[in-house]
Amino acid sequence: MAAFFQSLAPQAPDALLGLIALFAADGRAGKIDLGVGIYRDDMGATPVLRSVKAAETILLREQPSKSYLGAEGDARFTALLSDLLFGSEPAFADRLTGVQTPGGTGALCLGARLIARAAPGATVWIGSPTWPNHEPIFREAGLAVRFHRFLDPATGLVDLEGMLADLGEARPGDVLLLHGCCHNPSGAQLSPAQWQAIAGHCLRLGLTPFVDIAYQGLGDGLDADAEATRRLVGQVPEALVAYSCDKNFGVYRDRVGALWVSAESSAAAATCRGNLLSLARVLWSMPPDHGAAVVRIVLDDPALRADWEAELAAMRARINGLRASLAAGHPALAPVAAGRGMFALLPVGPDEVGSLREEQAIYMAGNGRINICGLTQASVPALVAALQPHLRPAEGK
Ligand code: LMR
Repeated sequence: MAAFFQSLAPQAPDALLGLIALFAADGRAGKIDLGVGIYRDDMGATPVLRSVKAAETILLREQPSKSYLGAEGDARFTALLSDLLFGSEPAFADRLTGVQTPGGTGALCLGARLIARAAPGATVWIGSPTWPNHEPIFREAGLAVRFHRFLDPATGLVDLEGMLADLGEARPGDVLLLHGCCHNPSGAQLSPAQWQAIAGHCLRLGLTPFVDIAYQGLGDGLDADAEATRRLVGQVPEALVAYSCDKNFGVYRDRVGALWVSAESSAAAATCRGNLLSLARVLWSMPPDHGAAVVRIVLDDPALRADWEAELAAMRARINGLRASLAAGHPALAPVAAGRGMFALLPVGPDEVGSLREEQAIYMAGNGRINICGLTQASVPALVAALQPHLRPAEGK
């Protein structure tokens, strides 16, 4: 019998997730993990949030059943999260539909499959650089992917002109992937005027935005981080929004997310919903419950919600404090202060990333992305000192 698996090409392990094992195996004292994006406190730990632990206790005590909920998952969870993201009763509420998904990746995959069903010839435009999982998610759904400029490598700032020029080649019906806030990998923020220019471009060119928002509350605040998504979805006839609770609720391995589609009308939204449910049924039948139930309990209980918001504010303050300290360490690192969210892109190449790992036990993604939370106020000077020989001397003066 033919060995059909022989046709499979070997796959390199995921470089970002691979850093977890590499770091764990490194026995050097003082090693610094700036790899995968997880929040760490000043002790380097990623404890379960107080509010989440309290909600888990309630869930354990009060959960009446573990019977199936259906392909949409926990509807109350999605409704509460929808309020958090879009505000209560947004103008587009009647043409918006959402379902729970296994994490933000599940939301992106589900959205990609919906696009492939609705418009198989669509090209998904993605800014460069981006999260390395974006491209394969859309390609695996059978969609074409093209990249547009997003960040000017010389300045570390958003290159809106380059972005809009590249998008001049997009065709009506194409999809534009956008990071709702806290850009991964750079932390670069679009200004309200830049968001407005992008919305205008989508309307003019007939592009459907697909917003990936995975860090609400970790940039400037819950409402501030959602503002651009709210405005954009309100302005365009159709949009998709993928959401992750991994970071803002710290429920990484529980896989908690949601996908919303805003359609041209409430009837179109209902048809989209039917398609989302049928796709979800095939992909995972129904999403895992535990983490979403916990998030639902937190958001539904005023005291727990207030405590979660306080915990989130503390995480945000710590991240922004580390940004300021790092930026003050060297003029070439100045753009780090203006960025938001967990990530910053250091001006170092793959060889320098390799030598920082080998010689200094400092771990970061191959493109120079660091997880700011992996730093402490005490380790910032060590990072700056290790980077010193690699930063452009002219900028260091
Ligand atoms: C990251 O970018 O480090 C995180 O979003 C984790 C992941 O899944 O890649």
